[in-house]
Amino acid sequence: MPITSRHLLGLEGVPKEDIQLILDTATTFREVLDRPIKRVPTLQGKTIVNLFFESSTRTRISFELAERRLSADVVNFAVAGSSVAKGETLKDTARNIEAMKIDMVVVRHSSPGAALFLSRVVNANVINAGDGTHEHPTQALLDMYTIREKFGKLEGLHVCIVGDISHSRVALSNIYGLQIMGATVSVCGPKTLIPKDIEKLGVRVYYNVEEAIRNTDILNVLRIQLERQDRSFFPSTREYHNYFGITKEKLEKAVKPITIMHPGPINRDVEISADVADGENSVILQQVLNGVAVRMAVLYLLGTGEGK
Ligand code: CP
Repeated sequence: MPITSRHLLGLEGVPKEDIQLILDTATTFREVLDRPIKRVPTLQGKTIVNLFFESSTRTRISFELAERRLSADVVNFAVAGSSVAKGETLKDTARNIEAMKIDMVVVRHSSPGAALFLSRVVNANVINAGDGTHEHPTQALLDMYTIREKFGKLEGLHVCIVGDISHSRVALSNIYGLQIMGATVSVCGPKTLIPKDIEKLGVRVYYNVEEAIRNTDILNVLRIQLERQDRSFFPSTREYHNYFGITKEKLEKAVKPITIMHPGPINRDVEISADVADGENSVILQQVLNGVAVRMAVLYLLGTGEGK
């Protein structure tokens, strides 16, 4: 059964079967990454542009690696040195790039809705690599893949997202995706970093991290997104760490081992202590590896026409 959309703009409202198809397809590509020659000819002849208007380490490298592993031609765009610095609009940038016969666009932008906007003005398939505080669908897909790899399922599991929920696109995509797949999602953080009506999305809210830890299988720990905060939401990072930082001492109070996830970049000893980030229950680096396979699956499904 083919995926039902030409683009991947977010996970809100995506059919369960599409997510299942992406995760199952990623399993095939994950096996390719263990081969001595990690390349398949699937997207030979396709040209993909990575349009990154915001900084990125993992997502940009992961997409580029996924594209090259699929034998696509890859063009990387960075704002510095481009005509955006001279005042060119997003629409004009995209249409000029498309005139060069681009097949797919991967876009990261600080504005929520930037990927949706692009999908309306270009003919290429558009993949959202993070749009402001809105969504980051491939991050949530790789998070779900990593959970499924460890637990063999998503349905019935409890996932708690801890940290700066208000400024996080990872949180929203995880909430949508995990709920579609039958998991229970909660959030935890200081009141100032939890959106007011978030319960309307069907999530439970914890303001006490020890209580959250007692009731979950997985903690997905988020960074404090200082670059998106226009004022101070807590007195100091030390105070944040004392109350909400995930430490060995807090985890020892749990009745079972808790799987630790983090989308990166990590601020060690702020939202998570170094020993927990590197500990035996951490799957943080598996997330990074799985991200390449998941992005290969998304690019393949959308780029080969299997997508429509
Ligand atoms: N997880 C994530 O989006 O990381 P980058 O900002 O480094 O891409």
